[in-house]
Amino acid sequence: MKFFVDTADIDDIRELAETGLLDGVTTNPSLIHKSGRDFFEVVAEICKIVPGPVSAEVVATAHDEMMREADILRKIASNIAVKVPLTIDGLKTCKKLTEDGTMVNVTLCFTANQALLAAKAGASFISPFVGRHDDIGFDGMQIIEEIRTIYDNYDFKTEILVASVRHPIHVLQSALIGADVMTAPPAVIRQLFKHPLTDRGLEGFLADWQKTGQKIA
Ligand code: E4P
Repeated sequence: MKFFVDTADIDDIRELAETGLLDGVTTNPSLIHKSGRDFFEVVAEICKIVPGPVSAEVVATAHDEMMREADILRKIASNIAVKVPLTIDGLKTCKKLTEDGTMVNVTLCFTANQALLAAKAGASFISPFVGRHDDIGFDGMQIIEEIRTIYDNYDFKTEILVASVRHPIHVLQSALIGADVMTAPPAVIRQLFKHPLTDRGLEGFLADWQKTGQKIA
């Protein structure tokens, strides 16, 4: 499963990229706002740090205007994935852009039927938001299972990008279901490395090593 980070914070992206485990980045207008940075400047910087797909979202709601914005966004770098919302205009835009070979991430997906439409529109990625579903008392991961089944039934190439990830259990479940990608906030990715028994075990090994008085040199 590929790991994308869901942020526009350059320091976080740089630090996680150094692990060699980061396959891409997703941004959205709220994350750009949170960064306090200029949209074009920050996205261009991210594209230089991470060679994998970097999602940059259109903010128009009508197809023609989405196409105009997408044309500007895809010129930022060759690894831009244009993000469009799951609306009729968004999917029309997706179809057009993917025919040209542009990567498209269809966002704000909340049902398996919506994911089916996105795959038919040729989306490179479909982003079902699991956390926001959980927030309203629904099991968001259930949609991921349904989408996996549908995409496998018809051999769709659209990658399932689990979004709105809130905790490590979402990551685990995504991997068990066979999602292609998950995008999580930096804090959730850092949590994946951690276990108290790892810390305690390391402390014990280092303390005992110290007692041997030896060196690896
Ligand atoms: C995905 O591309 C979105 O940016 C993101 O995962 C939304 O997550 P949120 O529900 O935590 O805002």
